[in-house]
Amino acid sequence: MCGIFAYLNYLTPKSRHEVLDLLLNGLKRLEYRGYDSTGVAIDSPQANDIVMVKRCGKVKVLEDAIAEHFSGKEYDEPVMTHVGIAHTRWATHGVPCETNSHPQRSDDENSFVVVHNGIVTNYKDVKTFLEKRGYIFESDTDTEVIAKLVHHLWKKHPGYSFRELVEQVIQQLEGAFAIAIKSKHFPGECVASRRGSPLLVGIKTKTRLSTDHIPILYGKDEKSPQTCEKDTEAPKTKVLPRTESTSEFMPLEEKEVEYFFASDASAVIEHTNRVIYLEDDDVAAVRDGTLSIHRLKKCLDDPHAREITTLKMEIQQIMKGNYDYFMLKEIFEQPESVVNTMRGRVRFDSKSIVLGGIKDFIPEIKRCRRLMLIGCGTSYHSAVATRQLLEELTELPVMVELASDFLDRNTPIFRDDVCFFISQSGETADSLMALRYCKQRGALIVGITNTVGSSICRESHCGVHINAGPEIGVASTKAYTSQFISLVMFALVMSEDRLSLQQRRLEIIQALYELPDRIRQVLKLDIQVQELAKDLFQHKSLLIMGRGYNFATCLEGALKVKELTYMHSEGIMAGELKHGPLALIDDRMPVMMIVLRDPVYIKCINALQQVTSRKGCPIIICEEGDEETKSYSSRSLEIPRTVDCLQGILTVIPMQLLSYHIAVLRGCDVDCPRNLAKSVTVE
Ligand code: AGP
Repeated sequence: MCGIFAYLNYLTPKSRHEVLDLLLNGLKRLEYRGYDSTGVAIDSPQANDIVMVKRCGKVKVLEDAIAEHFSGKEYDEPVMTHVGIAHTRWATHGVPCETNSHPQRSDDENSFVVVHNGIVTNYKDVKTFLEKRGYIFESDTDTEVIAKLVHHLWKKHPGYSFRELVEQVIQQLEGAFAIAIKSKHFPGECVASRRGSPLLVGIKTKTRLSTDHIPILYGKDEKSPQTCEKDTEAPKTKVLPRTESTSEFMPLEEKEVEYFFASDASAVIEHTNRVIYLEDDDVAAVRDGTLSIHRLKKCLDDPHAREITTLKMEIQQIMKGNYDYFMLKEIFEQPESVVNTMRGRVRFDSKSIVLGGIKDFIPEIKRCRRLMLIGCGTSYHSAVATRQLLEELTELPVMVELASDFLDRNTPIFRDDVCFFISQSGETADSLMALRYCKQRGALIVGITNTVGSSICRESHCGVHINAGPEIGVASTKAYTSQFISLVMFALVMSEDRLSLQQRRLEIIQALYELPDRIRQVLKLDIQVQELAKDLFQHKSLLIMGRGYNFATCLEGALKVKELTYMHSEGIMAGELKHGPLALIDDRMPVMMIVLRDPVYIKCINALQQVTSRKGCPIIICEEGDEETKSYSSRSLEIPRTVDCLQGILTVIPMQLLSYHIAVLRGCDVDCPRNLAKSVTVE
């Protein structure tokens, strides 16, 4: 998904070259989100002008273009105060090309330039409004209307501040956005805002920050409108109030300060760990080095201030280290990431589990009508993987839903439902929409996310942070296993006082204790998996079969193969084989089968026989030392034994490795697969 990075230095001298390096580096940190084109805008050394460079393709292409474009000595001279904005674009309106890349501009003179993440759904109305007033559009983007609308309002209201202009603009916009704007008419200023798309402000000062929160400045009552002349013709025909300072207004004033506006924390962590997560409709403005946060209207439960959060993330966590790709690093991090998910929650000595984020809600959850697990893609698969255990340990009906389908069906939701929203990013639009749908209907909302401060985190009543650490590769790996464990821990909490389930609980807790070592053992299969990838990478298709606790691995394995290698792959419920998929089997069709010694073992062996008797030659994932199962095929991967409900964590790792190696052999971009984004913030 698009990425925003903007940088403002106030009384901290930086050359334009240094600013450009910072912007490019910020964009590199956001690359993992998925994008197809890039751009930057900085102040020109020629007074009162803005220069932009935009390119289709990777940040490296932009970097080369910048090296060529900004070669003069004047770019080495330090400037005390400067604003630069940068963007990675994931095309939604208009093909990836330079003209459609961001920043988008208001006019030929680059009076106002904007970077935007999200979709302005009423852009056509705004465009028509502006076209009637003589604006000529050069791109196919929805974003261009933002730049031109600011310009239009600036001409109409020369007395308005930059922040006031942006406030007027966002009231005209529908849909989702995060924006950062710079203007040659307001040098040294940057204004940013969000609605539905994430945006944070990083703050770096030489000395310790003088405050840990920024008071919010609210606008005047709408009943005392300022004149907006003919702006009542604007698409939403609103009378727009201006905001004014109130007595509680104490913006952040630091002598020498640098500000970073970014779509996520990984882009700022190497500069500062002090950030403010903006909320929907916040307008953050920096002027004369002073940051203030404004809102037009105050609602009853609105806070008085935005907290400055200290990020716990370390820079090493977002570096590749010795790995060629983030995805590979993240696969190999799993022995540690699962421990981090359990840390402070699973007490192995007392065999007890405490989930601090939901502990107070457990009595309410126990009284619920049903549990609903909702997510997209990999996050949805973690729900499929744990459903059976949740049913067993909670003795409640458990529904598993894809967020998009759930919304399409207007699924009935009741006040006594408990709805879990599972999302690595915490920003997936489909999941967020489904969350709001359930919340409006009075259900209890539990967030299972990996991103502190994300929208799903903030909008849930309670939740579990999965603590997997930053996941940069677009393909989700360690987040899946941590989501899986979070849901297992929840099932254990729910069954704490069930006497009949104590033996089962102890068995699972012991298996959780052994899990990091078991994962390490599975990771040793890497060389063997790489060899299998050599057999498979030129094929067109790969079928992955299993059932019971391992069906989710089939779905997740197939998703990994599809998204990384662009090969067709399908996860098949082995019980369904004879109802159709068996027709696909012959001696050339690549098949993987998961056959473990669990309650469905005999059924899996039946499926295996159905495949081999049609000349199929499956690669079998089986338990270590299971010679009988291995004898059905010449190729197998042996994984260590664990309790049935955790097998899915061990069986998915060979699938993660296999998709990785096939992708490398096919020359695919492992960390940024084509057409995909890490965080899908559009519906
Ligand atoms: C996983 O490899 C995918 N990239 C994708 O399916 C992802 O899991 C899905 O988009 C949901 O994202 P979320 O967990 O951030 O909500």
